[in-house]
Amino acid sequence: MLRLISLICMLGASQALDNGLALTPPMGWLSWERFRCNTDCKNDPDNCISENLFKTMADHIVSEGYKDAGYEYVNIDDCWLSHERDAQGRLQADPDRFPSGIKALADYIHDKGLKFGIYEDIGTHTCGGYPGVEYYFQQDAQQFADWGVDFVKLDGCYIDSKEFDTAYPAFGHWMNKTGRHMVYSCSWPAYQSGHMTPDYPSIAKYCNLWRNYGDIQDSWDSVQDIITWFGKDAGNFSAVTGPGAWNDPDMLIIGDYGLSIDQQKAQMAMWAMMAAPLIMSTDLRNIRPESKAILQNKGVIAINQDPMGKMGKVVYTQSNVQLWSRPILPEGSVAFAYLYTGTGGTPSHIQDVVTNAGLTSSRGYNVTCAFTGKHIGYFKPTDKFDLHVDPTGVFLGIAKIF
Ligand SMILES: *[C@@H]1O[C@H](CO)[C@@H](O)[C@H](O)[C@H]1NC(C)=O
Ligand SMILES: *[C@@H]1O[C@H](CO)[C@@H](O)[C@H](O)[C@H]1NC(C)=O
Repeated sequence: MLRLISLICMLGASQALDNGLALTPPMGWLSWERFRCNTDCKNDPDNCISENLFKTMADHIVSEGYKDAGYEYVNIDDCWLSHERDAQGRLQADPDRFPSGIKALADYIHDKGLKFGIYEDIGTHTCGGYPGVEYYFQQDAQQFADWGVDFVKLDGCYIDSKEFDTAYPAFGHWMNKTGRHMVYSCSWPAYQSGHMTPDYPSIAKYCNLWRNYGDIQDSWDSVQDIITWFGKDAGNFSAVTGPGAWNDPDMLIIGDYGLSIDQQKAQMAMWAMMAAPLIMSTDLRNIRPESKAILQNKGVIAINQDPMGKMGKVVYTQSNVQLWSRPILPEGSVAFAYLYTGTGGTPSHIQDVVTNAGLTSSRGYNVTCAFTGKHIGYFKPTDKFDLHVDPTGVFLGIAKIF
């Protein structure tokens, strides 16, 4: 089995960015969705974008079991910068909100056994209006390496998206030249998808992950819209997914304000089916136990982190039920999800031939529920599933080949 995995990784690496990183979808925490551009540390010291926020989240990732579950990156998003570069033209953090500086914050996070990520923008400014990296590629890439950055998210505001096809590879070149291995997260297709077909094979060659689509918001509408968009696979981006190369449908909003428990499970399940990065954006200090359990669910995370790194695809959509299927190891096994988008108040009774979900081998399959680990049964291709799925909920199954 080990030989099989390494062979698959090598095959994947031939089309992915060759920096040895993100061989499974990155897992971590990012400030944006939950904490946005709150810079008001005077009136809201516990929730503003500051070194304290990231230190506190790093503490909770370790003490509350997220690190053990696989979450590893603590990432800053927009609004960390000072509005001006320093006298030498270097990027600098806001001195009031990051008084110890970025290097000290990176050291703090590394001392916890975690990794540190930062945000910038390929244009003249970040989306929030702070200095961007345009005209400073080499200097800023080196600055990130000097600070001990492990993950760079590079947004795409304040630049013509037609320039991305040369600009993102160019910044990646300078990241590589620093000699420090840093995960490279691009927003390259996200700003192109509306008016052109992004060059996904090229994007996968130069970036470890990339945002394809608009920002997630704190609502089920937003989650469902993202799932629907990714299910269409316009431009065949599922084909370039693999170790070192991931489509990014944006952050997990589990634990925030907008989703019911069923909807939180549905987001977690569908992000696992999509082989999506699992980047939480929630207040880990005040999270309900149910939400924490969803974020740390071993069965679902195992699907997400499957070493083959195949993205799931939609099999069909009918009567508010969408079926997704994804190959996982051991070879011949599948994960499948029945997502029920109905809002009628009663669970959907789903009876479906198991071959639809990809259970086509005559050897048969042992099927378990991914969330509970409960054994559902042994199924042959001639059998049927008989399931109940809650409104705006999901059934996520693991079918291990017999
Ligand atoms: C730089 O690129 C080379 C060739 O693709 C690769 O072998 C090396 O690991 C990369 N180094 C870093 C620091 O990303
Ligand atoms: C995507 O794949 C489909 C079927 O395999 C093919 O018809 C279509 O031309 C492809 N599109 C792109 C943009 O590669």
